[in-house]
Amino acid sequence: MAVGLVDGVRSGYKTISGRGLDWDSVPMRLFQKAKRLGTWDPQGIDLSRDGSDWEAMTSVERDFILRTVALFQAGEEGVTTDLLPLIMAVAQEGRLEEEIYLTSFLWEEAKHVELFRRWLDMVPAAHEDLSRFLTASYSHLFLVELPSAMGRLKGDPSPTAQIRAAVTYNMVIEGVLAETGYHGFRQSLETTGKLPGLLEGIRLIARDESRHIRYGVFLLNRLINATPGGWEVMNLRMNELLGPALSVVTEFWDAYDETNPPFGQRMQTYIDFASTQFDKRMKVLERDRGKSLAEIEGSALSDLDQEEAAVELRG
Ligand code: MN
Ligand code: FE2
Repeated sequence: MAVGLVDGVRSGYKTISGRGLDWDSVPMRLFQKAKRLGTWDPQGIDLSRDGSDWEAMTSVERDFILRTVALFQAGEEGVTTDLLPLIMAVAQEGRLEEEIYLTSFLWEEAKHVELFRRWLDMVPAAHEDLSRFLTASYSHLFLVELPSAMGRLKGDPSPTAQIRAAVTYNMVIEGVLAETGYHGFRQSLETTGKLPGLLEGIRLIARDESRHIRYGVFLLNRLINATPGGWEVMNLRMNELLGPALSVVTEFWDAYDETNPPFGQRMQTYIDFASTQFDKRMKVLERDRGKSLAEIEGSALSDLDQEEAAVELRG
């Protein structure tokens, strides 16, 4: 018997219907991972050295760090406040395992907000309004495209609207911007050995984000292959957002002298990383194009197995 909502009344519960839980599904596997790796506490990170490192920095270095953290902070608040409509849409379709995974997703985003604000509270300059750091393309993506694509699901949870939402949230905001920002920033801090608390927080955040993106790719794959014209909707949305996403990077660098960049950073490193990661995910969608849900689950699970085996090998 199918269990779900009919006219607002629940006809039963999946977990006692004989169906149970689908333990081997992609979302349940990600949920197990989230419980192992996603329960770190932002309050537990030692920020004592960060304060003295900050004091010793030049004004350009401080500007670079403050601008970056302000953008991370705003972005994490954005993905926290704008995720709920997607969770609602998935829940309404009775996708219990995905809803269970998404509880960890939202909780993790909330902790990311906490981590950055805890760090900013330590810096006197961060108690003023930091919204001057939001450039035109950043504002367009985070203040307009993200909330409108996600908010649309409240009135229109159709697969097409979900595809547009997942491209915006998971592929572009998380997959291109957040991941690139965290990767580049980590590299710049690792070489200097400065701000160890912030670095530790970003390392943990990036690990959480990799699960979010993995779910997003799975979700998109499932939606695209169950929706006539789904591939074209995905492509169109990507093309709408990729230009502004790359402009977020170039507009950030407008503030610095490329011949004498803070921490020896180079903009091109960020651009290259963003396109490599993007290509990797597009290859997964292309590989699975036209496949059934069972086949998509199978290939996503073997990707997860391979990743876990690689992590074990590295120790
Ligand atoms: Mn996050
Ligand atoms: Fe995320």
